[in-house]
Amino acid sequence: MSQIRSVIIGSGHYLPTEHIKNSHFKKSSFYNQDGTPFATSSSEIIQKFYDITGIKERRYMPEEMLSSDMAALAAEKAIADAGIDKESIDQIIVAHNFGDTQHGSTIPEMMPSLAAKVKNKLGLKNPTCVSYDIIFGCPGWVQAMIQADVYIKSGHAKTCLVIGTESLSRNVDPSDRDSMIFSDGAGAVVLSAIESEKEIGIIAHSALTHAAADLNYLTMGPTYGEQESKDLYIKMNGRKIYNYALIEVPKAIKSCLDKSKIDLKSVSQVLIHQANEKMDVAIGNRLYSLYGYEAMPKNKMPLILDRMGNNSVATVPILYDMIDKGHLPNHTFASNQLLVLASVGAGMSINTFTYRLP
Ligand SMILES: CC(C)(COP(=O)(O)OP(=O)(O)OC[C@H]1O[C@@H](n2cnc3c(N)ncnc32)[C@H](O)[C@@H]1OP(=O)(O)O)[C@@H](O)C(=O)NCCC(=O)NCCS
Repeated sequence: MSQIRSVIIGSGHYLPTEHIKNSHFKKSSFYNQDGTPFATSSSEIIQKFYDITGIKERRYMPEEMLSSDMAALAAEKAIADAGIDKESIDQIIVAHNFGDTQHGSTIPEMMPSLAAKVKNKLGLKNPTCVSYDIIFGCPGWVQAMIQADVYIKSGHAKTCLVIGTESLSRNVDPSDRDSMIFSDGAGAVVLSAIESEKEIGIIAHSALTHAAADLNYLTMGPTYGEQESKDLYIKMNGRKIYNYALIEVPKAIKSCLDKSKIDLKSVSQVLIHQANEKMDVAIGNRLYSLYGYEAMPKNKMPLILDRMGNNSVATVPILYDMIDKGHLPNHTFASNQLLVLASVGAGMSINTFTYRLP
């Protein structure tokens, strides 16, 4: 039976041109949480950081740019890729966690919403194009896609511009070695209502939030360093997140696949949030072990974090667009392929959706 399906008809991404290599942090002074300096040199800390995460470099926005600028640039590309009249967009949903944070400040500016700013920057005039933000930790863009899908399938929207943008370089504590994980970037897609008998586009989704002891695995806190400052920065308990993700993410993905009535063997690629290469591979192996595999088969999980670091909500849409545009060797999209898109982060929240390429 012909039904309304939510299908990605265009995508785009924007990455700042400034590459920040690990060697950039050689001049940093890193401190423990208790404010004592590390006994090891910054070069040794950087080497260890690379060994445990696989991250070689990340991108930082130039001083004059804001997160909403990156969002608008990614959105322009997605709209051009979709070939639509931009005034036909019903909703702009922007996922982020720190709003627009000016260079030299750590204060997130959240009003007006980034989505309203993007609408302004795109020059959209149609007042019925509603624009709003979602704050949902790193999985914000996946959650925004779920939200758009629900609006589309219930007949309340036809075309949604769904963006993930983050400028984490403005909210990291330079004296915290964990800061080396984080980076900047934006990704966007146009999700559109398509009538089809075939089950294409978003098939099913699932989302969960664990907010007991897990609540503070990712939070805001004061600097570890010596500078006098009342500013608050991103703080994470990396080991706790690692353990949480390894246990909960494979289960969450399986529950979404079950809901979709899909066996993992039919899935061609798993597009997952990226903060640590070993962690993602371990999640992949555990997921495949739930289906009786010894390990995750090759080329199932495209990874870009060695060059990109963790740009939070932007990671999954950037990854989608890079594959779509043929930027990743060994990873291509073809009609009828099944994808799983998943993310995990502050909350702690995990969300997932299954997607069949049209
Ligand atoms: C933060 C993280 C890299 C730390 O790695 P880990 O293996 O858990 O680290 P451990 O605390 O067990 O320490 C292992 C070693 O790495 C060192 N280390 C820990 N964090 C480090 C960092 N950021 N940079 C450099 N070295 C680090 C430790 O000092 C320890 O060194 P030693 O072996 O010489 O004693 C890792 O836990 C991680 O990536 N977690 C997930 C983070 C995440 O997903 N964040 C984003 C969520 S949206």
